[in-house]
Amino acid sequence: MSEEKRITPAETTDFNRRAFFVKLGLGSLSIAPAGTAAFSYQFLSPNVLYEPSPIVNAGKPEDYALNSVTIDVNAGIYIIHAAEGFFSLSAVCTHLGCMTAWKPELGIIACPCHGSKFYALDPKKTPGEKIEGPAPRPLPWLQVSLSDEGDLMVDRSKQIEPMKFVRV
Ligand code: FES
Repeated sequence: MSEEKRITPAETTDFNRRAFFVKLGLGSLSIAPAGTAAFSYQFLSPNVLYEPSPIVNAGKPEDYALNSVTIDVNAGIYIIHAAEGFFSLSAVCTHLGCMTAWKPELGIIACPCHGSKFYALDPKKTPGEKIEGPAPRPLPWLQVSLSDEGDLMVDRSKQIEPMKFVRV
């Protein structure tokens, strides 16, 4: 008769404990390379900040009525269709950077934060020039051009001298 080897409860516990520690050790060893790989990837990938393009397509000139002031809040610009042509002003107040608003009833651009006011369509004044308030500078004129498709393109990164209109 063959003699069967019996495993005692003490041996079973010992085996389970050994298996547990082996798995724990292997798990620990696999975490280190994963962490190294993650840090290496972060180190090697370019540290680039992707910003939206400063150039805004403002659409077709015919969409803007004569003597109209249209704000694009997302882009922070005004598209203004004056008798002399099109131009664009930054809508960001030069005081502390609040978004200004066109006040058609007053015919001016006003800042809601500290009350700066700017000319927009007054034929005797330069658009963007400050009327009153703490703003230290006028609203800057931005470069406007026409695309090959005939769209108005505003480059928010390029400030220009005032009174340069785009005639369509
Ligand atoms: S931010 Fe416009 S007046 Fe202060």
